[in-house]
Amino acid sequence: MKKNIWNQFWKENQKNNLLKVFFAKKFLSVFFKKNPEIEISDIDWLLALTLKINRSELPICHGITFEIWKKIEKKSKERLQGKPISIIFGSTNFYGLNLKVNSNVLSPRPETEELVSFALKNAKYFSYPSVLDLCTGSGAIAIAIKKNYPTSNVTATDISSKALYIAKKNAFLNDCEIKLIKSDMFSSLPKDKKYHIILSNPPYLKSEELKEISKEVVDYEPSLALDGGKSGLKFYENIALNVSKFLHNDGILIMEIGYKQEEEVKNIFKKHFEIVNCYKDVFNNPRIVICEKLNQRKI
Ligand SMILES: C[S@@+](CC[C@H](N)C(=O)[O-])C[C@H]1O[C@@H](n2cnc3c(N)ncnc32)[C@H](O)[C@@H]1O
Repeated sequence: MKKNIWNQFWKENQKNNLLKVFFAKKFLSVFFKKNPEIEISDIDWLLALTLKINRSELPICHGITFEIWKKIEKKSKERLQGKPISIIFGSTNFYGLNLKVNSNVLSPRPETEELVSFALKNAKYFSYPSVLDLCTGSGAIAIAIKKNYPTSNVTATDISSKALYIAKKNAFLNDCEIKLIKSDMFSSLPKDKKYHIILSNPPYLKSEELKEISKEVVDYEPSLALDGGKSGLKFYENIALNVSKFLHNDGILIMEIGYKQEEEVKNIFKKHFEIVNCYKDVFNNPRIVICEKLNQRKI
């Protein structure tokens, strides 16, 4: 019978039934280094999340029991097959909040946190800001805004019932009251309702680009969350055509874009807004487009 090298490694290196984290990291790095598509820092995430401690606590951890080692073996194998950490553990961190995710929603990205920061900076211009998050997915943007600006009135929409189920769960788990509406973009929103801040991180990849992106994204994230049509701009065109009916005159529209889409997206919105600016994300890519009718604040 074939020996399980994970069991063998634990037995040979444990002391008092505990394996040192340092040894575990060395062992795991042999496998992770063979796969250049996977960040070596994922080892720390896997260990910390399985041990239920912070990554900074790994060096002072007492050690790994055999039971935990078996869990680390299972989760490491899943990661090495391309499953993202957020899907393996069923949750991720966004703007300091713990959010449930699964393969029916996009796992919120760090770049998207900046949309929230822009919205929060602007929320202070309105006493009770009404906020709309179009294409909410896991509810990340909507929940982060409501948690950080409790007097805001937040509505979030998505076309996917499965995504809205996760958003509802996340709102509940984070003790947060937001209104969720199943809607194809603006179509099911009350026609007379206007918002001070409208945000969206819509699908923005070109349909053909979906074939080229990493297996990790294609296999574990829904194409509904990624496919922006032939040009990748379908959702921006929809927003540009409809948003004025739903935005207060002194309101602000904040959107995430693909890093190559700055000029195209700005051109779409310049026909409808006085002010259209694009800001860079933490990785220095043009990522956030902000549109206003009136120039009245400094961002
Ligand atoms: C890129 S994901 C963004 C999720 C989340 N807002 C975030 O930033 O992590 C886009 C979302 O748009 C939703 N979506 C796709 N087509 C839509 C449509 N026609 N109307 C509304 N939502 C749509 C998808 O279900 C998906 O949840």
